[in-house]
Amino acid sequence: TGDGRPRLSVIGTGYLGATHAACMAELGFEVLGVDVDPAKIARLSRGEVPFHEPGLPELLRTHVASGRLRFTTDVAEAARWADVHFIGVGTPQKVGEAAADLTYVDAAVESLARAIDRDALIVGKSTVPVGTARRLSGRVAEIRAEQGLPGQVELAWNPEFLREGFAVQDTLTPDRLVVGVAGPRAEPLLREVYAAQLAADTPWICTDLETAELVKVAANAFLATKISFINAFSEITETVGGDIRTLADAIGHDTRIGRRFLNAGVGFGGGCLPKDIRALQARVSELGLDRTMRFLAEVDDINLRRRDRVVDLAVQMLSAAHGTEADAPAPRGGKTTGPDRQVLQGKRIAVLGVTFKPDSDDVRDSPALDVANRLFTAGADVRVYDPEGNANAAARFPRLEYVGSADAALEDAELVLLLTEWAEFRALDPEEAGRRVAARLLIDGRNVLDVAAWGEAGWTVVGLGHRFDA
Ligand code: UGA
Repeated sequence: TGDGRPRLSVIGTGYLGATHAACMAELGFEVLGVDVDPAKIARLSRGEVPFHEPGLPELLRTHVASGRLRFTTDVAEAARWADVHFIGVGTPQKVGEAAADLTYVDAAVESLARAIDRDALIVGKSTVPVGTARRLSGRVAEIRAEQGLPGQVELAWNPEFLREGFAVQDTLTPDRLVVGVAGPRAEPLLREVYAAQLAADTPWICTDLETAELVKVAANAFLATKISFINAFSEITETVGGDIRTLADAIGHDTRIGRRFLNAGVGFGGGCLPKDIRALQARVSELGLDRTMRFLAEVDDINLRRRDRVVDLAVQMLSAAHGTEADAPAPRGGKTTGPDRQVLQGKRIAVLGVTFKPDSDDVRDSPALDVANRLFTAGADVRVYDPEGNANAAARFPRLEYVGSADAALEDAELVLLLTEWAEFRALDPEEAGRRVAARLLIDGRNVLDVAAWGEAGWTVVGLGHRFDA
C-alpha cells in the first residue's frame, strides 16, 4: 500500500475471521476478507454481520464504507494482493469422532500456496492439533517447489484467544499475543501488523510452531477444567448442603486460584471449549500419550452431568409440587425418560436463555438448548425465549415453542428455568414475574439471581450447586 503498511487478507469470515478483518481495518490496514460462501460474502460486502457480536456491526459498516475493508470469494485475488494472509477457518469436531476436522484449514493453506506469486506470510489463527503448523509448513514448501512459483512464502501460527461477546475488545486489546514462527520473516512482519497492541504493552510471546499451537489448547483445557472443578463441587454441595457461590468466592480470593471461571452452573458449551478438549485428547492419544489428557474425559463428563442434574431437579421440584401422575401418556422419546420423569408430561416449562452464553446468538453445543430439548423429549411443554438465540435454536430444534419475550415465556408456566445469564434475566422483577406464572418455581442454572429477594416474593428458587429439600 501507499503508506508502506502490509496488506492483509483473512481467509474464513466466521466469528474469528470477520472480527479480525474488521479490527485490522479499524487499526488502519487495508484488509481483504475471503470466504467460500458467496451468501456470507455478499452480506459482509453490504456491511452486515451474519451473527450477533456487540460492536462489530459498527466497525464493519465504517470500514466497508471507507473501502479499507473488502470481501471476495476469490482466494487468488487475495494471493496476488496481500502480504500477510490470516487463516481463520473453522476446525470443528469430526462427526462421530473426538478429533478436529482439518479439511478447511488444509484447503485454505493449500489454495494460497498454489496461488501466491510473490513474497508473503501465511498466519494460521484457527485452533489446530499440535503438529499441524509444521505439517502445513512442509506442504507449502512442497507445493511451491513442485510448481516453481516465484516469491518466498513462510508460515506462522498466531492463535486467537477472543471470546464471543467480547470479540472486538479481545482483538483490539488482547491479554497477550502469541506467535509461533518457523523462519526469519514472520516475527518482524507480525510486529508491524500488531504495532498498535505492542505500543499498548501487550505481552508478546514469540516461540516455535508447536508451543504456539499448544498455548491455545492448553488455555481452553485449563478454562474447561476450572469450570468442571467447581461443578464437581456442586455435586457435593447438592448432596450435603452448602453454598457453591460462597465456596467459589472463598477459594477465588487466593490469587493463585482466582475467582474467574469458577461460576457453577449448567456448564460450558459453544464452538470451542467442548470440541477443543476432545480434540486434544484425540491428538495426544495419536502421539501415544494415552493417559496424559485422560482427566479431560472427566472434565467433559462432569460438564455433561450438569445437564442431567437440571432435568432431575426439574423432576424433583415438580414432583414435590404436584406429586407424580400415575397414568401419564407415553413420552415423546426414549432418552430422558424414567418412571420418575413421568411428572414432566405436559408440564408447562419456561426456558430463559438457549445460547451457550449471553451476548451471543451461538447455540453450538449449548447446555441450555440441550436441557430444553431433553425436557421436551421427556414430554414437557417447553416454551423458550432467548434475546438473540431463538432463530438458531429453532433451526436445530424446530418442535420447541419459541416466543418473543421473557414475559411471553413466563405466562402460565409451572416451572421456570434460567439457563443463560442474559442481563435482562438478571434484572427480572420477582413480583412481576410471579404474577405471570402458574407456580413460583425456578431453577437458576447460572446462579445469578438474588435467591433471598425471590424467596420474599414467594418463589422457590434452587440454584445449581444447591441442595433441594422437597
Ligand atoms: C473460549 C475462550 O474463553 C476464549 O479465550 C477462546 O478464544 C475461545 O473459547 C476460542 O477457543 O475461540 P468462548 O467459547 O467465547 O471463548 O466462551 P467462554 O466465555 O470461554 O465461555 C465458555 C462456556 O463456559 C460458556 O458456555 C459459559 O457459560 C461457560 N462458563 C464460563 C461457565 O459455565 N462458568 C464460568 O465460570 C465461565
